Amino acid sequence: MEIRLAGKRVLITSSTRGIGKGLAKVFLKEGCKVVITSRSESHVEEAINELKSVSDQVYGFTSDLTNYQSLDSLISATLNKLGGIDVLVVNSGNTPREPSTVLENSIEDWEYAIKLFLLGPIYLSTNVAKIMIKQKFGRIIFISSWTVKEPQDFFSLADTARASLLQFTKLLAREVGKYNVTVNAILLGSFPTPTSIETLNKIANKVGLSYEELWSKYVVEPSAVKRVGDIEEDLGPFVLYLASDLSSYITGSYFLVDGGTSRAI
Ligand SMILES: NC(=O)c1ccc[n+]([C@@H]2O[C@H](COP(=O)([O-])OP(=O)(O)OC[C@H]3O[C@@H](n4cnc5c(N)ncnc54)[C@H](OP(=O)(O)O)[C@@H]3O)[C@@H](O)[C@H]2O)c1
Repeated sequence: MEIRLAGKRVLITSSTRGIGKGLAKVFLKEGCKVVITSRSESHVEEAINELKSVSDQVYGFTSDLTNYQSLDSLISATLNKLGGIDVLVVNSGNTPREPSTVLENSIEDWEYAIKLFLLGPIYLSTNVAKIMIKQKFGRIIFISSWTVKEPQDFFSLADTARASLLQFTKLLAREVGKYNVTVNAILLGSFPTPTSIETLNKIANKVGLSYEELWSKYVVEPSAVKRVGDIEEDLGPFVLYLASDLSSYITGSYFLVDGGTSRAI
């Protein structure tokens, strides 16, 4: 059985670093055309230069997930460049406030988080779904976190904002399913990225543990496999499967790719 994705037109948000950039690499290796995007022009340029060594079918535009106008421009620019969007991977960045507990957050922190993790993804996916309906094909994949199932004190903003996106995943899936458009979410475990390491360092400081102690006690030990994930090896293949024709009966679902970290059923 082969996952044939060559030529598919893929838009990945928040993709100039970390998880998003890693997934861009995975799609490029499969022969897809990929648009990457984030807020900073220099980040886009740097990532494009790096990804060009994998494939020259990569394009970049700036956009901010918390700004609807910039999402409209992103959709237009992507359509101009690729002629359509077959796969939309909605990855978010992180709020500058976290790690923070509920009582530490201001209402502005909540507003930003809800735009970043919920409203921006809703706005973008709804508008891209309308394009996919006309194409009679589409795959929408939201990148979320295992902590949505078991909220963690220091990810109060992200976990609260992200929970509703799972409800939305099911509702959008119901409306677009008959057009061969699927909508799913992936709940990540721990994938070391510069930001996730920086965040863990901040948590270690807050709880008075060394980074090494925190890493072992809260990241590695709680997983069933006793290790963290690799974006290309552990996450990439599953994302490719969800993006492919092979997954057409799978929609309105969410999947843990967390090395068995969550104990919730
Ligand atoms: N890494 C993990 O272990 C892990 C686990 C669970 C969930 N997650 C989630 O996965 C996502 C990616 O994590 P990561 O570790 O890869 O993060 P990262 O390394 O910080 O990368 C975030 C990317 O998002 C962009 N970005 C930030 N704010 C944005 C905004 N408002 N609009 C558009 N782009 C924005 C950044 O570029 P600019 O600064 O140029 O905008 C960057 O390209 C996050 O939502 C995170 O919560 C990660």
